Amino acid sequence: MAITSIIGGQWGDEGKGKIVDILSENVDIVARFQGGANAGHTVIIEGNKIVLHQIPSGILHPECKCILGNGMVVDPVGLFEEIRMVEDQGIETANRILLSLTTHIVTPIHKAIDKTSEDATNQKIGTTCKGIGPAYMDKITRKGIRAHDLLDLPSLKQTIDHRLSEAIKNNEVSKSAVNQINADLKQFYECVPAIAELVSDTFQYLHSIIHQGKNVIIEGAQGTLLDIDHGTYPFVTSSSPNNGGITTGLGIPQSHLDRKIGIFKAYTTRVGKGPFPTELFDGDGDKLGKLGHEFGATTGRPRRCGWFDGVAARYSCLVNGFTEIALTKLDILDNFDEIKVCTAYELDGKLIKNFSEVIYKLDQVTPIYESLTGWSNPVENIDHIDNLSNRAGQYIHFLEELVDTPIKLVSSGPERHQIFTREIS
Ligand code: GDP
Ligand code: IMO
Ligand code: MG
Repeated sequence: MAITSIIGGQWGDEGKGKIVDILSENVDIVARFQGGANAGHTVIIEGNKIVLHQIPSGILHPECKCILGNGMVVDPVGLFEEIRMVEDQGIETANRILLSLTTHIVTPIHKAIDKTSEDATNQKIGTTCKGIGPAYMDKITRKGIRAHDLLDLPSLKQTIDHRLSEAIKNNEVSKSAVNQINADLKQFYECVPAIAELVSDTFQYLHSIIHQGKNVIIEGAQGTLLDIDHGTYPFVTSSSPNNGGITTGLGIPQSHLDRKIGIFKAYTTRVGKGPFPTELFDGDGDKLGKLGHEFGATTGRPRRCGWFDGVAARYSCLVNGFTEIALTKLDILDNFDEIKVCTAYELDGKLIKNFSEVIYKLDQVTPIYESLTGWSNPVENIDHIDNLSNRAGQYIHFLEELVDTPIKLVSSGPERHQIFTREIS
């Protein structure tokens, strides 16, 4: 039996989709436990690009079932369209997508509230406007709609009518937005019957599969630095995208997790607002963005780029207890003569090595870098990536020492075959 979790170690977009796709070949279930359509997980197979938002990346392997867990907030309209998109690619989805009875539902009202509150505030988070925060807010204040509510359409309509009146009364949405919300609700109700068919007791199913000793992958969305508790609050998402969120978001105890893989880019990116100590505003930043095609898979916004932040990464390893790391996009660094890695911060003349100490004032720290020499051969052509006689191998070794976690997988391009497994004794 192996239960493997795959978690973003940075601010999201680390390449989780690609790694889940590779590792889910002989897996029975891939399950998501948090987030929703704010995620954009890219899988590229022989040049064909598929971006998944709510369906777990295991869908590309025909034998694999996909669970949308109770900790997610699921948008039925987005899910309906995503299923159609996947089917159009020739992938059978019948009986393969299971939605937990207790997953919370994102309605057009949540999306409108998300947009209204982003537009109104001076402290913009740069949300994806997918209704994530407002749906989690309704969950926590105990007025959310859950997947089992989709099974009774007349009662669902009553609940939603009531929530819309409340949103108008409390100025959560503007009066001018109401016509659009009603038009969106019409489309929402049209999608409900198809999505209601996916609803089942996924808790029992998942535990029975685990009991049979089968293989399960748990797919994180977002990243640890966007965690509502452990991230760069308030510039975070509204869920717990770290290993801890699995326990509540699927009902699987931590003790069941055999392999906990943290996904890290070989450099750092962030999309949306918030502090980012190693962000580059120079030619190197532009180069990372251009070569790495760093544009959001969900919103298309340019991602901010910077060097690898070892202080943040070490913290992320502590939060998650990663047993290993998968390092992605190493090939993008092929093109640099000098590569920098942040090993500490400086604040008011003091050396800072603990992210947690300055997490609330990260915008004030100055990164301290160590410089490494780049490599001249594309990493893809290297025979043994773990060979320390090559500079790419030295870079990997430097990072794993810094974060005190072995790097066992190294990705050298977006395609399935562009992956190295490192032998570490
Ligand atoms: P996710 O949200 O963590 O799944 O990541 P995204 O899909 O949002 O962004 C990662 C991007 O990097 C996607 O466009 C992937 O196709 C691409 N990618 C993943 N691994 C590699 C890699 O090793 N090298 C390169 N060049 N691209 C990669
Ligand atoms: P994947 O799974 C990168 C960011 C948004 C914003 C903040 C809050 O593809 O790695 P939200 O809509 O969640 O309320 O927005 O979080 N964000 C992501 N950034 N990758 C993601 O997902 C993200 N999901 C949300 O840009 O700053
Ligand atoms: Mg993404």
